[in-house]
Amino acid sequence: MIEYTERKGTGCIKWDALEETFGTDGLLPLWVADMDFRVDRHITDAVEGYLKRGVFGYEGAPDSYYDAFIEWEKAEHGLSIDREWIRYSPGVVSGFNFALQILSEPGDAVIVTTPVYYPFLRAAENNGRRLICSELMNRGSRYYVDFEDFEQKIISSDARVFILCSPHNPVSRVWSAEELTELLAICRKHRVAVIADEIHHDLTFGNAVHVPTLSAAAEGDRVIMLTAASKTFNIAAFKNSFVIIKDPEIREEWDRFTAGLSLSSGDPVGYIATEAAYRYGKEWLSEVRDVIYGNYTYLRDCFAEHLPGVRLTPLEGTYLAWADFSAYLKPEELQPFMQDRCRLAFDYGSWFGGDRSGSFIRINLATSRENIEDMAGRMIREPD
Ligand SMILES: Cc1ncc(COP(=O)(O)O)c(C=O)c1O
Repeated sequence: MIEYTERKGTGCIKWDALEETFGTDGLLPLWVADMDFRVDRHITDAVEGYLKRGVFGYEGAPDSYYDAFIEWEKAEHGLSIDREWIRYSPGVVSGFNFALQILSEPGDAVIVTTPVYYPFLRAAENNGRRLICSELMNRGSRYYVDFEDFEQKIISSDARVFILCSPHNPVSRVWSAEELTELLAICRKHRVAVIADEIHHDLTFGNAVHVPTLSAAAEGDRVIMLTAASKTFNIAAFKNSFVIIKDPEIREEWDRFTAGLSLSSGDPVGYIATEAAYRYGKEWLSEVRDVIYGNYTYLRDCFAEHLPGVRLTPLEGTYLAWADFSAYLKPEELQPFMQDRCRLAFDYGSWFGGDRSGSFIRINLATSRENIEDMAGRMIREPD
């Protein structure tokens, strides 16, 4: 049974840090990508069991933690991972920032497909790399890679790295094996390394099947794959992510780099929570996916009936809906309407880089139906 929890006043960013980003409090928040749901009780039981020990000295990751992850990836995604390929990163975002430093030099070009999770854009900027954006093509609200543009931009910028978002936040695409194969082939042809952020890989819907980048890659492809249990099981606070590097030379570079940061292992709570999630969380995950998909279909039907001009992207992966309001609102009218009149907080399309022409919002669906109904009601009631 999925349990909605009241999070206001807990110090969480989604509910308690609205003022910093939106300059006002009291908005109904549908922005930050975490869930308003209590985690699986196996996770809280495991963490409580650890806390009851009462001794918190230096600890390493148990073998059982690696086994649980390896078994999960094999069972859920058909991916065989050797224990020796796995490294630690506190977050996926820190992981792709490290990977960028390992796989490129200052001044090198880094390509992304926009719109994309904005820390990708910042990673290039913060590490002194040149950001190159290849715009995804929006065809009837579903998004596709423009392979010709992608390749041309790689050639003209001499890009060294591609940061891939798979599934893709914010446009909810789960890339097919054919699409990944083509992206990887272009990267191989031009000696572009791939950083694959697969944090949303367990959150797929309908017929969408996630294909791990390492399954689509050929021998010798330069790939660093990143994933975690954090998004899947709502345990981002525990700062535990997986870096998977098959190529021994890149692994060596990773080890040298992280030795310089003295960063080789994480926090025992992160290991324990992650292991419990992978071992026992499957049923909870299945229920949470149903709740999310139910929120999506509710919203889709509600827009179709009351705001038929809203173009909602089909939900394939992630729990983030992507909606274009340009039939009703100009880009400059979007935030004032949503924020000042409806008192709602979203991630706005303009945050996600590239050539932003529509009036997009990203809606976090991992909340109660009541909140989704409340949100839709505020939009419908407000005449424009
Ligand atoms: C694509 C993507 N990568 C990474 C993250 C965050 O990862 P972490 O909290 O592990 O740094 C998010 C969170 O929304 C995300 O959507």
